Formats: sequence, C-alpha cells, structure tokens
Amino acid sequence: MAFLSNAVLILFIVTATVVLLPQLVGSLVGLVFRGVGWLIRRRTRSRREYVIARARSEEEEGRAPRAKDSTHSLARNQEDEDWEKVDNTSGVKTASSSESGGGEDAEWDGIIGFFHPFCNAGGGGERVLWEAVRATQKRWPKAICAIYTGDHEVNKATMLERVETRFNIHLHAPTVVLLYLTTRKYVVASSYPYMTLLGQSLGSLVVAYDAFTLLVPDVFVDTMGYAFTLAFSKWLFPAVPTGAYVHYPTISTDMLASLDDQSGVQGINSGAGKGLKGAVKRRYWQLFARLYGWVGRHVDVVMCNSSWTSAHIRKLWGNSKSADNGEGDGTAASPAVVFPPTAVSELESTIEVTAESERTRRPVLLYIAQFRPEKNHPLVLRSFARFLQERAKDPANADKPPPQLVLIGSVRHASPDETHIYNLRLLAHELRIRDNTTFLCDASWPAVLSHLSTASVGVNAMWNEHFGICVVEYQAAGLICVTHDSGGPREDIVVDLGDGATGFRAETEEQFAGAFEAALALPETEKVAMRQRARRSALRFTEEEFSRKWLRQVEKLVKASK
Ligand SMILES: *[C@@H]1O[C@H](CO)[C@@H](O)[C@H](O)[C@H]1NC(C)=O
Ligand SMILES: *[C@@H]1O[C@H](CO)[C@@H](O)[C@H](O)[C@H]1NC(C)=O
Ligand SMILES: *[C@@H]1O[C@H](CO)[C@@H](O)[C@H](O)[C@H]1NC(C)=O
Repeated sequence: MAFLSNAVLILFIVTATVVLLPQLVGSLVGLVFRGVGWLIRRRTRSRREYVIARARSEEEEGRAPRAKDSTHSLARNQEDEDWEKVDNTSGVKTASSSESGGGEDAEWDGIIGFFHPFCNAGGGGERVLWEAVRATQKRWPKAICAIYTGDHEVNKATMLERVETRFNIHLHAPTVVLLYLTTRKYVVASSYPYMTLLGQSLGSLVVAYDAFTLLVPDVFVDTMGYAFTLAFSKWLFPAVPTGAYVHYPTISTDMLASLDDQSGVQGINSGAGKGLKGAVKRRYWQLFARLYGWVGRHVDVVMCNSSWTSAHIRKLWGNSKSADNGEGDGTAASPAVVFPPTAVSELESTIEVTAESERTRRPVLLYIAQFRPEKNHPLVLRSFARFLQERAKDPANADKPPPQLVLIGSVRHASPDETHIYNLRLLAHELRIRDNTTFLCDASWPAVLSHLSTASVGVNAMWNEHFGICVVEYQAAGLICVTHDSGGPREDIVVDLGDGATGFRAETEEQFAGAFEAALALPETEKVAMRQRARRSALRFTEEEFSRKWLRQVEKLVKASK
C-alpha cells in the first residue's frame, strides 16, 4: 500500500516536473534578464542624471538674456521663445483633444529613446524620425528625446542644422540628445554574407545592449525596423513601454511567395525556391518568420508606414487572423497605419489646379521612377505603344496634339541602371515610339516641378510598390494617376474617398493602354474635378496628419511609463 502511494507520488512529481520545467526555466531566464537590466540601470544612473541636468541647463541658457547679445543671438532667442509659445498652446491643445489624456500630462519629463543607428542618412526613414521628434517635443516640452546613433562624425549642432536644411524641420535643441553607439557595424548587412536576416537581427541585440549601457530610457521606440531590440528591452526592463514604427517587415509573406514565382518580376528572389538550396532557404525563412512573430508580440505599440506593411505585420505578429481594415489600434494584431510625412504642401502651394490651369496641361504621361527593373518601365513603353496604335485608328484624333511619354528617373553611376536605360531606349526604338518618348536622367527638382505642373497623367507600373511617394506627389500636383493595381497605390493612395475616383488602376498592357486613353479622353470638367479630388486625397499624407497619428500612439506609451 505504502509502495503504491510512493509510486503515485513519484509519478506525480515526474509529471509535474516535465510539465512545469519549461515554465521554470523560462521564469528563471526571465529573472536573470531582469537582474542584468537592474544592473545596467544602476550603472547608468549617473549618466542619466547628467543628461537630464545638461538638458535643463541648456534650456536655462537659451532662456536667460545674455549680456553680449549680438543681433544674431537675439534673433535666435526670439525664435526660441516663439517656439515655446507654439509648443505650449499646441501641447495643451493636443492633450485636450486626445481621447486618452488630460492637459496635465504635457508636463511629462521622461526620456524617450529613439533607436535609429543611421540617423544621418537623409532618406525617407530619417524624415520620419525627425518629424516624430518634432511632434514629440511639441507635445511634451519637458521630455528629452534621446537618439541612439552610430554617426560619430556629426555633433548635435551639425545634425540639427542638416535636419533643418534637408527636411525643413526645426527642432528645439536643448531637449535633443544624441547618444553615440560604438557597435553599429553589427547591424550592417554586409557583415553577414550568409543568413543575413538572422545575423542582422542578432547583431541588433549587441547594438541594443550598447544603447542601454549608455542610457536606459523611460520609453523605447525603434524607428528603423530592429524589432529584436524591442523584445530585448522588454526582457531587461519590463517596465519600459516599447513602440515600433515599421517601414518594412524584416521578412514578408511576399518574399516567401516569390520563391515560387516564374515570371521574374517579383524581385531578386524570384523563382529561387527550386532544388535543395531553395528548400533550405525556404525552411530558414519560415523559421525566421516565426521567430520574428514571437519577437513582434513583445512590442506594446505598433505603427506601420502603410497598409501594405500593416497587413504583413498583422500576419506575422498578430495571432488572430482577423482582417479588419480600419486604421488599427496600435497593437501587434492590429497595427496603426501612420503614413510618413511627404512634401505635399510644397506642391499644393506651387502648382495650380483650376479650369484655367487646365489649358496649360499637355497630353503628357509622366513616369517618375528610378531606372531599375522592378519599376517595370517596359510595361509602360509597350502600353504606350499600344495606346498610340489604337488612337491612330480614329481619324478624329488626327488634328489633336500627339501624346508624349516622359520618363524621369535617377541613374546610379556605374551601376546596372546604365545598361537598363540603354535597353529601355532600344525597346522604345523597336516599338517605334522613340519620337514620342523622352528619357530624362537625374533631372533637377525645378525641372521635375515644371513637368508635374504641365503633364496630364502620372504613371506607376511597379508591382507591389509598398507605398509610392511619387504617386502621392502626382496627386498633390493634380495629375490623374494610372498605377499598377497592387500595393500602396491600390490600398492607400489611388482610392475613392467617397466622392469619386482619384485615378485609374491597371495590371496588363491592355488595361494600361485603356487607362491612358480613358484618362486623356475625360471631358474637361470631369478632368479638373478628378484632379481636385486627387489633390484632396493627397492631404492625408501631410506632416500634420503624421504628427496627429504619431502622438495618438505615443501618448499610450507615455501613459504606461508613469
Ligand atoms: C503656457 O502658457 C501660459 C500662459 O502663456 C503659462 O501661464 C503656462 O505656465 C505655460 N505652460 C507651460 C507648460 O509652459
Ligand atoms: C515604408 O518604408 C519602405 C521602406 O523604407 C518604403 O519602401 C515605403 O515606400 C514606405 N512607405 C511609405 C508610405 O513611405
Ligand atoms: C510620334 O511623334 C511624332 C513626332 O512628334 C509624330 O509625328 C507622330 O504622329 C507621333 N506618333 C503617334 C502615333 O502619335
């Protein structure tokens, strides 16, 4: 009897161990991470105090009237005071108009860490970063925006100056802090000739560790797509809320699908899924996608730069299959779509779209895109040739001005682009549209602007363009868009906002040719109306819209940090 009960007891203990061991190990590992986090916090406490003290003293210096004021620094002071006025009112306004918080949290004075190792790159991702910093500063004037960067060669003053000239974004210097990483090389793709995805992701952990040993923020945001750093932060500092602004999923379901593609238009991995090598690659990608999903579920607030990105992140990070297509509530299962700010306002103010300006528009189809294979210029050339043929059949068109196709793009010197554009010219010749097609390489902005104001139709033929800033620019300039029926143009840009179409979408050569005809043949009043609708639609992508949506999400993080 005693033997039996002993056996039952042992059995019970063994079962309990088998069931509970993984959990035990899990919580033990969790504890170790927390311990490390605690140590890091302790070791960096004095730096944190120093950073805060310096920001406050810079603030004081900026405010105190200086004895030997030159007119220049006077002007500067004035500007800083203006800045304060603006930030005060806007801060209070945002606070009271937001559903979440009251006006008092404009007083929040924590540190927001932005993980952006390449903050001097000057691309679209950096515009997002600096615009986000500006919005954050205005909303919480006392908060400190700490940017983790590897750009050692630029100091803060130079960086802020560059931000001002490059993006026309003026930041309030005292509350911006640059923290310099020494380990950035671990996230550079070329460091990992094999297994780049995994290598870069694990490498980002080293860089994140570097970042935390510089300073532990109160809110941690990644704006470059290193999601692994956010999960790492959660393990080390469970109390620090994390946010991700995702430009592009590290791995996408399209990538997996493209392994099976035969047509060759789906990017560099098109059709690479054959053979043993292909099978290994597929398995590796699938496993990586699962790891990426696990990591992503640790992030508190998720923002995506487009519906395309959002759809992929939802698939990879969310555990529900719910396919809601709303704006998203900012969780991994339903990321908030926060479109990046674009230079819509400049186009709006320089280009007129009225019945009068319609007379200066010519029957020109404009395609602005780099001369690269994925932009699919051949499709545009073929469709244009077909459109001209069809059009020539109708004698009524004989005395109308002949349509023109203008291709504007940059060509990277000494790259395959140069052969590519040569082949495109050859194709235009073969299609007998050489006299009707213009290639413009590396046009200046004023030249582009002039084409945007006189052309009639804007074209984009890329399959699955993730967004298409140039399509937004077409719309802001009042062009009627004819774009590929996929990706960002389909989901976000060339959409009907309830008052009618803002352009045409096509997939095949026939459809593109038909859309060119339809766009150019619109009656004049409808043409102008469509241009104006397109322009209104582009207003969704302004800097103000970006700030509003960004703050709505970051407010949650700030609230959670208290
Ligand atoms: C905002 O401005 C008002 C009056 O202009 C002032 O009383 C208040 O202290 C300011 N608030 C902050 C946070 O600076
Ligand atoms: C989102 O980011 C990706 C990668 O940088 C870019 O290709 C895409 O155009 C961006 N989307 C928007 C809306 O800017
Ligand atoms: C192409 O351009 C040439 C020269 O401008 C013009 O004569 C010709 O009619 C155009 N072709 C078509 C099909 O419109």
